[in-house]
Amino acid sequence: MMTSKTIFPSELSGSISVPGDKSISQRIAMLAALAKGTTTVNGFLTGADAMSTLQAVCALGASHCFKGDVLKITGTAGKLKEPANPLDMGNSGTGTRLLAGLLAGRSMTVVMTGDESLSRRPMGRISAPLKQMGAQLELTGEKGTLPLTIRGTQLKGIRYELPMASAQVKSCILLAGLFAEGKTTVIEPRPTRDHTEKLFQTLEIPVDVNGLEISVQGFGSNGPQFDARDLTVPGDFSSAAFWIAAAAARPGAELTVRGVGLNPRRTALLDVLKRMGAQIETEIILEEGDPIGNVTVCGAQLRGTEIGGDEIPNLIDELPIISVVAALAEGQTIIRDAAELRVKESDRIAVMAAHLRAFGVEVTEQPDGMKVTGPATLHSPGTALASDGDHRIAMSVAVLTTFSDQPVSIENTACVDTSYPDFWNHLEELGGKYE
Ligand code: S3P
Repeated sequence: MMTSKTIFPSELSGSISVPGDKSISQRIAMLAALAKGTTTVNGFLTGADAMSTLQAVCALGASHCFKGDVLKITGTAGKLKEPANPLDMGNSGTGTRLLAGLLAGRSMTVVMTGDESLSRRPMGRISAPLKQMGAQLELTGEKGTLPLTIRGTQLKGIRYELPMASAQVKSCILLAGLFAEGKTTVIEPRPTRDHTEKLFQTLEIPVDVNGLEISVQGFGSNGPQFDARDLTVPGDFSSAAFWIAAAAARPGAELTVRGVGLNPRRTALLDVLKRMGAQIETEIILEEGDPIGNVTVCGAQLRGTEIGGDEIPNLIDELPIISVVAALAEGQTIIRDAAELRVKESDRIAVMAAHLRAFGVEVTEQPDGMKVTGPATLHSPGTALASDGDHRIAMSVAVLTTFSDQPVSIENTACVDTSYPDFWNHLEELGGKYE
């Protein structure tokens, strides 16, 4: 059944804690499944993407139980077993691409499938380097897409220059490299999120980070042996971004997000908002591994800015909500070097440009970004808008509507559960209204 929500205009302010980071939760599920012993995880995201990955690693021999908010994952000490059925990865690109790397060097056959959106997403970006390592992979979807069959083989280490800035592809190759013979090195074109490297360090899996070159030493098909450690997942900065942006763009609004991940490879949105004129304070509470802290934002009449280059991977998931902020800012905002947005859960450039236009915003779409001219007076489009099954589109349009003159309905909002099941409750907690 198609769910839809009607959002009402309102100011969002106050204080909130967001659920656990989606990228980190999924990496923890995979590494805990390889570890010896039981990993206790605080703050694991119970959104659909992280749960698909958790279920996949359990089908591979790990086990888990929730005690309240605390998740315990018992690992296999490296002895994953062949799953009885295809692994249904749901909507999760991270789960699929990283797990494919982790499984490519194991002597078993695994099939991975996904939902409609995941089945459209490019997988050649992982199959090309994995095949160079000697992996046997078959993508049987029409356009070299899912379903994916992996027939585990002995891998050899490679030196690989990533053709695009992608933490998923980087992590896929590093995970495969752990099960290869010899050294594997990945060279990034721009710095991307480094949660995999940080977790390797925390778990004492050797990893060498030398600027944009990241290397692991292969342990052969048995993989690395390491003990389980208790781990905490920071709040997801990409979920916090919706509230931070909503407050930043409204003069006089004040909002605090507590306990959120502040890894600099994720927080470029804060630099952009500061450049645009918002007042933002961050306070680090925990520095070890992936840093955690609080963010307080005071809104203002923002000014347009230019966003591109190395900044892009560090705010890639925030670009839909940044386009909302751009519509409210004075002058032109230019987003470039972001062609990757076209191959996310939806074509986020085309979909956001269309939705902004529906509210009366002046937008020019470009192959690798967009130009947005503000400040727009937002008028309700008068018809319901489609989320395109993309969680970040649904949440961005919800925040956009809080600035509109009339309520707006968004169709197919169930996708929000992939990363932020509490989004609607939190919208209300911060003073928003929906029905
Ligand atoms: C992710 C990396 C990014 C990001 C995605 C999560 C990860 O994707 O957009 O939401 O967990 O590594 P790419 O690696 O495709 O850029």
